[in-house]
Amino acid sequence: MIEIKTQEEFLRGLPKTELHMHLEGSLEPETLFMLARRNGVALRWDTPEALRAAYAFRDLPDFLALYFEACAVLCMERDFHDATAAYLRRAREDGVLHAEIFFGPQSFTDRGIPVAAMMDGILGAIEAAEDETFSAGLLVSVHRHRSEDAAFEVLRAILPWRDRILGIGMGGAEIGNPPDKFARFFRAAQEAGFPTMVHAGEEGPPAYVRQALDLGVQRIDHGVAAAADPALMADLAAQGVPLTVCPLSNLRLNVVASLADHPLATLLRAGVRVTVNSDDPPYFGGWVTENLLACADAMDLSRDEVIQIVRNGFDAAFVSEARRADLHARLTAYLAG
Ligand code: HPA
Ligand code: ZN
Repeated sequence: MIEIKTQEEFLRGLPKTELHMHLEGSLEPETLFMLARRNGVALRWDTPEALRAAYAFRDLPDFLALYFEACAVLCMERDFHDATAAYLRRAREDGVLHAEIFFGPQSFTDRGIPVAAMMDGILGAIEAAEDETFSAGLLVSVHRHRSEDAAFEVLRAILPWRDRILGIGMGGAEIGNPPDKFARFFRAAQEAGFPTMVHAGEEGPPAYVRQALDLGVQRIDHGVAAAADPALMADLAAQGVPLTVCPLSNLRLNVVASLADHPLATLLRAGVRVTVNSDDPPYFGGWVTENLLACADAMDLSRDEVIQIVRNGFDAAFVSEARRADLHARLTAYLAG
């Protein structure tokens, strides 16, 4: 019998990557409440449903206020472990074969939590989840709304785990905090041997994406503002610098008015190596599959275009060349089968 898959089943089963997802933003409201109870942390919502109802954001700073507030529920090594394990289980169910997890230690060092508790919790859960089909890794992220000195402190603090960290990135409130503010920091991270990436051109202008490109990062997170600058798009395409685009995040943070207006397809058709990711999935209403599905629908992406996006993810991932070939082969087998 011929099996006919719906588009959603096809996309969920599609071997894919997640390259832009923040651990702090991965907690389902139910998990958040469980952690709050376990740690005796008071929340200003009575129920997970009430918290979920608060997920209506004006813009990135409005979202970040809630995101940083919710970080209070993560306190001990086992919290970081359990949050990571829960995310990785969910990612596997979503058909993700390789996941890179952003985590920003500064929210927690502020509260006196030892970096070792965070690193050991997260890295332990990653190691426990990896097997021959599934791989994952950690991207340490600094806050751009803080000082460059504070970023250097993070870089020093994570050095004992350097061999188990895939890369160094930067997130937080973008407007007024351009990539150039951290030029010395990114140079130092690169000289220390880390791959680097930076959030740019989410709410910020194309000039921030240009600065990100000039910093010599391996990937740019979001980067969607580049679609307004044809010369910049051409340079991104020529240099092959991937963008980790998060369409439902952009919709929920009012970066775009609708997914039909989202520049993903424009960037893709201009030859930019775009990937599709979830950013903070419970907050923005979708994991990678829902992001792909919503884009395919709203932008009329062809099946070949969806497959190109997924292959871009394999090419942009921080994996060995053997693993990269394995990911491509698994996709080829899925499409054949
Ligand atoms: N942008 C900047 N910082 C973030 C984001 C984002 O989309 N998500 C979590 N931290
Ligand atoms: Zn992000």
